[in-house]
Amino acid sequence: MASNFHLEVGADRLATLTFDSPDKKLNVFTRTALQELETVLQELAGRQDVGCLILLSGKPAGFIAGADVEEIARVTDPLEAEAGSRVGHRLFAAWEALPFPTVAAIRGVCLGGGLEISLASTFRVASDRPDTKLGLPEVQLGILPGWGGSTRLSRLIGIADALDLILTGRTVDGRKALKLGLVDALLPDSRFLDEVRNFALAHLGNKHRDAASADFKEMLLEKNPVGRKILFDQARKKTLEQTRGHYPAPLRAIEVVRLGLEQGVKAGFDAEARAVSELATSKISKNLVHVFRLTENAKKETGLPGAEPRKVSSTAVLGAGVMGGGIAQLIADKTDLPVRMKDVNDQALATGMMHAAELFDKQVKRRRLSVPESKRKMGLLLPTLDFSGFARADLVIEAIVEKMSVKQEVFAETAKHVRADTVLASNTSSLSIAGIGAKTPERARVVGMHFFNPVGKMPLVEVIAPEGSDPVAVNTVFAYTRKLGKTPILVRDTPGFLVNRLLMFYSTEALWLLDEGYKMEDLDRAMTEWGMPVGPITLTDEVGIDVAFKVAHILRDAFSERLPIPAWLDKVPESGRLGTKNGKGFYLYEGRDRKGPDPSVYALLGLNPTVENPDPGLIADRMVLPMVNEAARCLEEKVAKSASDVDLALIFGTGFPPFRGGLCRWADQEGLASIIRTLERLESSVGDRFKPSDELRETAEAGGFYARFG
Ligand code: NAI
Repeated sequence: MASNFHLEVGADRLATLTFDSPDKKLNVFTRTALQELETVLQELAGRQDVGCLILLSGKPAGFIAGADVEEIARVTDPLEAEAGSRVGHRLFAAWEALPFPTVAAIRGVCLGGGLEISLASTFRVASDRPDTKLGLPEVQLGILPGWGGSTRLSRLIGIADALDLILTGRTVDGRKALKLGLVDALLPDSRFLDEVRNFALAHLGNKHRDAASADFKEMLLEKNPVGRKILFDQARKKTLEQTRGHYPAPLRAIEVVRLGLEQGVKAGFDAEARAVSELATSKISKNLVHVFRLTENAKKETGLPGAEPRKVSSTAVLGAGVMGGGIAQLIADKTDLPVRMKDVNDQALATGMMHAAELFDKQVKRRRLSVPESKRKMGLLLPTLDFSGFARADLVIEAIVEKMSVKQEVFAETAKHVRADTVLASNTSSLSIAGIGAKTPERARVVGMHFFNPVGKMPLVEVIAPEGSDPVAVNTVFAYTRKLGKTPILVRDTPGFLVNRLLMFYSTEALWLLDEGYKMEDLDRAMTEWGMPVGPITLTDEVGIDVAFKVAHILRDAFSERLPIPAWLDKVPESGRLGTKNGKGFYLYEGRDRKGPDPSVYALLGLNPTVENPDPGLIADRMVLPMVNEAARCLEEKVAKSASDVDLALIFGTGFPPFRGGLCRWADQEGLASIIRTLERLESSVGDRFKPSDELRETAEAGGFYARFG
């Protein structure tokens, strides 16, 4: 008997095929699993005693996670990639053609190839378990559903919904799947197996589903060629806007879905196979698979060796500003436990509460939360002007003004109101954690917990362990970060830690370009076209000009001639420009909406925006290469433990374009020798700050970032 699949046929003609990948937490269609499925299919095709077959998972964690990512990572030959796609087509077509009905019994994750075999089943039923997730995430790996999913899905649920799932790679739960027509029934998890059997018994021998009736709007758009063209054109336009042409897979998927609908299933499968052969072997897919692996590996990290994290049931946040408000809201949302939010002024508390309410409202609008749920969660936020409730706190997260003396005093004062083992974490962007804890008793419990702005969106938290810190405190923050749904990365207690240090080299260069007469919108455009989610000037507005420039000063003091700052820097915040938070920055704002650049900024700073038709490649080099230069120093100083950590941190903390695979991987692909030559050119044409670091030269000699730092 095959080891991935186990077949049982009952006297009632109900058969179950249980998929249970040996030695894996989740079922994956490895090469061996596919071969074994083929054998099972041959046997099944001849069985006369089966009236209905249920496909089940033997894993408590979920149904089927999809194809083996390692196979996708490995394939470099387009013919082999195409053959891989055709194997899926052949097997799932055989599954579809079995002489009895099949029921995919979906409970937990059902992704990629898992959903594709479900689509080839006669029926699909899903459990109402909250972690039941159905989706086709292939575009996130730079490919598309290539085992029939691109072709079958739109036939089942219509073009618009199919494109939405395929192009975003997003998942839906059982309830939503039922609404979309993706599953035929939603079954209570407590009686799942019994209900699946009942469903199957009711469909014994019933190989044909009733055709779902399309609603009027759908018919109007999808069933006639003009309507269909509109749908595909809209999808193409939206995809181009979102990807700026950097991600070929979603565009290709639109074409494949269209072809499959217009020219038939066989043409659809052929188009899938051709697309997979090109996409799976492309650099972009390899980079996205690399990022996927980084993400998976990061999930296994636990912080410092040899210490168990402590349980956190009660938390408090100091500061109700941009960050404090966001952090408190996140805690209430993700942990469902009360959180104190302390500030020194009433108005700030009110604004913090309003900010949190807005964030919950957004979730309500997106139907991720019901109104009563959002009200209940809001009730978990307990604003306070004093330390009441702090005595119970297991963890306090500080997010007050970026000033060492103030933070030191506040930590020392807080220590009087909490237990001696309460972990005290600072969200500082740039100050030394050891310095912040210098006046605090039991200072080994003072650690860094650095979130990124906006808190709800950015997946990274840098966990900073100063020399002599208590590993239990560090690991408690590490584990708690994960509970908040974020990815923790351990970094050393050095100025700017990892991400802000690198980012400051990037955004300060934008200020120098501004100083030379470049226009702010040109700088922003060059970088968004390069793939950054927002340009450097917009980013400064979003971070808060006061906070950003305070950090610029701190890092300039730390890195002196390597990181000079323009003399006019402080004039910006002094003019009352704080950025998005007060609707006044480098850009003009109406409420929270950003309008065009504010031309009065140039006059304020005594600048002439005279550069016309700038070279976006040169702009990108000027901003990105200093980060590469500095990344080599960071790795040498062990600020981060590996090139992988640098890459993941920048992607998760700044939105560095995933299709480039991360800063270090991108630099390796460009070639460090060529990067060093460009830096040398910039050193002589622009300034000494571009001088290639010894660490970068050594890294080049060692064969690149990944060769030297893994
Ligand atoms: P903010 O200016 O929006 O908020 C600071 C809040 O702290 C204000 O409401 C203020 O009234 C309050 N505060 C001042 N002294 C206090 C005290 N003794 N006790 C309680 N509350 C007090 O500042 P923002 O942007 O939220 O930054 C806070 C911290 O987070 C800073 O250390 C900053 O470097 C860091 N950070 C900021 C990021 C950003 O993008 N803005 C990103 C990551 C970290």
